[in-house]
Amino acid sequence: MFDFTDKHVLITGAAAGIGFGITKCFHDAGAKVSLGDLRPDALDSALAQLQPERSYGYTVDVRQEEQVDNFVHAAEQEFGPVDIVVANAGVVPTASVVDMTVEDWDQVMDTNARGCFLTCRSGARSMLANQTRGKIITVSSISADSARMGASHYCASKAAVAQFTKSLALEMAKHQINVNTIKPGYVEVGRYTSPESEAYTRATVQGIPLGRAGTPDDIGNVALFLASEYAEHITGESFVVAGGASAGRASLPPAQP
Ligand SMILES: NC(=O)c1ccc[n+]([C@@H]2O[C@H](COP(=O)([O-])OP(=O)(O)OC[C@H]3O[C@@H](n4cnc5c(N)ncnc54)[C@H](O)[C@@H]3O)[C@@H](O)[C@H]2O)c1
Repeated sequence: MFDFTDKHVLITGAAAGIGFGITKCFHDAGAKVSLGDLRPDALDSALAQLQPERSYGYTVDVRQEEQVDNFVHAAEQEFGPVDIVVANAGVVPTASVVDMTVEDWDQVMDTNARGCFLTCRSGARSMLANQTRGKIITVSSISADSARMGASHYCASKAAVAQFTKSLALEMAKHQINVNTIKPGYVEVGRYTSPESEAYTRATVQGIPLGRAGTPDDIGNVALFLASEYAEHITGESFVVAGGASAGRASLPPAQP
């Protein structure tokens, strides 16, 4: 359905989980993909699953300004101007507020919020320099709107991403660059860090009306739509992809027996 042949897509946190799902969706739709990730080994495994002539990997820490700029420049050297940027890299640790260290807080805000800003800034600068009518997609979360315990830093960071996306959309509109965010619900990724407890996973999936966790492809498919010509008139919006989990209190029975 979607054809991204000759388009250059740059994705952060692309070596695993949702980021790799998004990468694979664009790759399978014909795009050239530039993958940025903190972990070189994971990048190698990801690249091994993609066509070498249409994929490029770069080790980057999205918290570091210079590294992010260098990633975008290196990707442009490889495949030319960037058409689509997906700021996906994020971390999801758990800590209650009273137990949280300043380092815990900073790690989450720096990766999720600052990293999103740096990636979008570098991508937007590249699009403006090349007069590209591009698309920028950020990855927030339903946690931007619906808090959960042990995740105050995470929820705050994802609310920051959502609101940052709207401001950037307003600034980029006159350049015909669309900027939107995806808010995934629970997506099963076999995360390499902070694996969830079985009880948490069970309770979370029970709260999903469609009856299953999301997959990285569920998120990738929405990214394809947002980057496509079908979404030309959409900017500054949030797209919840959560199997109905944000629609209401699915675990409540009907009021009348
Ligand atoms: N999985 C979910 O249920 C879920 C739900 C809502 C939102 N999200 C969001 O989706 C995004 C991806 O999450 P995921 O579940 O796929 O996580 P994941 O842990 O499976 O993958 C994240 C990837 O980002 C990379 N990364 C981490 N820190 C980085 C840094 N500083 N610089 C560059 N790369 C870095 C990791 O190496 C990893 O490959 C995150 O922004 C997350 O908040 C996930």
